[in-house]
Amino acid sequence: MSYDLVIYNGLVVTAADILPKSVYIGVNNGIIETITTAKITGKKEIDAEGGYIMPGGVDSHVHIDQDNAPAGDNFESGSKSAIAGGTTTMIPFAIQPKKEYDLIKVVEEYHGRANKNGGSYCDYGFHLIISEPTQEMLEISFPEVVEKESITSVKVYTTYPRYKLSDEQLLQILLTNRKNNVTTMVHAENSDIIDFINKRLSEKKLTQPFYHTVSRPQIAEDEASYRAISLAKMIDVPMLLVHMSCESALDHVKKAQTDLFPIFAETCPQYLFLTGDNLKHDCCNHGNHDDKFQGAKYICSPPLRSTQKDLEGVWKHLINGTITVFSSDHAPSKYDHPLGKKKGLINGIPHFKDVPNGLPGIETRLPLLFCYGVETGRITPQKFVELTSTNPAKLYGLSESKGSIGVGMDADFTIWYPKNKINKFELKNEMLHHSIDYTPFEGMEFTNWPRYTILRGNVCFDRDNGGVIGGQIGSYLKRKAITLAGPMKPLNPIFE
Ligand code: URP
Ligand code: ZN
Ligand code: ZN
Ligand code: ZN
Repeated sequence: MSYDLVIYNGLVVTAADILPKSVYIGVNNGIIETITTAKITGKKEIDAEGGYIMPGGVDSHVHIDQDNAPAGDNFESGSKSAIAGGTTTMIPFAIQPKKEYDLIKVVEEYHGRANKNGGSYCDYGFHLIISEPTQEMLEISFPEVVEKESITSVKVYTTYPRYKLSDEQLLQILLTNRKNNVTTMVHAENSDIIDFINKRLSEKKLTQPFYHTVSRPQIAEDEASYRAISLAKMIDVPMLLVHMSCESALDHVKKAQTDLFPIFAETCPQYLFLTGDNLKHDCCNHGNHDDKFQGAKYICSPPLRSTQKDLEGVWKHLINGTITVFSSDHAPSKYDHPLGKKKGLINGIPHFKDVPNGLPGIETRLPLLFCYGVETGRITPQKFVELTSTNPAKLYGLSESKGSIGVGMDADFTIWYPKNKINKFELKNEMLHHSIDYTPFEGMEFTNWPRYTILRGNVCFDRDNGGVIGGQIGSYLKRKAITLAGPMKPLNPIFE
């Protein structure tokens, strides 16, 4: 029999194992139908030439077509960039606008955005962001949207005036999530600490981009992370702290995990590779040295931390298992655009508070960790797959179809070049497929890149023959509950 697609002569990597080069993967109708040592043939055949064959990347934290980033990516550009960086599934956010309590309407709005301009190149789901919880919404509209859209994750904030929730509101949401089998994602920074420092920086006219890093110190993340963990322990419910940037906050997660609580951590490339020096304008890498505002390109929250030692603290927790998922937090805004990063420069006077937060990175996420983690020997290929594909799929209820290579699963793959097959190169923004006018990783050296990206058996990216060659074939993914870990005890009867 002949298959739609056969992939052979590569090292098949899952979170557990590396299979020998002698296996053949046979794909029919977008599903992996066989993995065998017997030679099989296909209408299309890909020789991996000894490179790694990994499950397609799952980027479970991206911001696409949000109202607060009008100079960012839409679904077309964001998902194209995903595919060109080896990511076959992304989970962006559907945000509850103020005074909108019909959550089905909220998600329908984002379906509309995803379907515009021809739709998405990769598969996608939605997390819900709750910014204004009411008792009625949590009791009626919330279970409806969970049921209808199969959304099993909610992000909440302890900071940003527009989004921040009180501890009591967080507890209400954690309890609602427990009752509905939904995982909570928390952006944890202490907003009063940030406001307190901001006031003083403004008074002293210390408003250049670099002061963004001063305004959000590690202790603000440390405290809010500890507090969020405490609240999640109270309800005994799975919680992920998103985009963690500092060792002391990760220490709190480690302790909770050691005590068997279902607490998870996420980090992102910027917290492994970039420091706050990038926000100063007395350095390199900015192109035009007359433009003193370019540090704004690196404004994200939590901010980039100060030293190489800070980065090492995050690497340590990535390697020792505290960190569960490695996402991009792709939250792009163009630099040279009145609604982009330049919004923070009014009549030549800078204020970091007016700069949209976030960095682009959906396309560079996998190559960065592959080149600087796997190819340097800091992490194993299996650990890479776990962090970038398997764990995000398990955390967000996709593990029946995504996040691994096995018979019956979606035929989503990222195939890498064999080591030393390509000459190392310096990244330039024009190599990327997002709609953003810069990359924070400009000039970094890469020793590898996804050679092929395959979504449900379709070769969507062939780096040597046409680049992004797949269509906008991405589908909306209905998700199930987390399969990583659940509550330890029955619900406390006083919370029933
Ligand atoms: O700076 C960031 N990460 N902005 C995006 C919004 C968020 O907090 O995730
Ligand atoms: Zn956040
Ligand atoms: Zn410069
Ligand atoms: Zn984010």
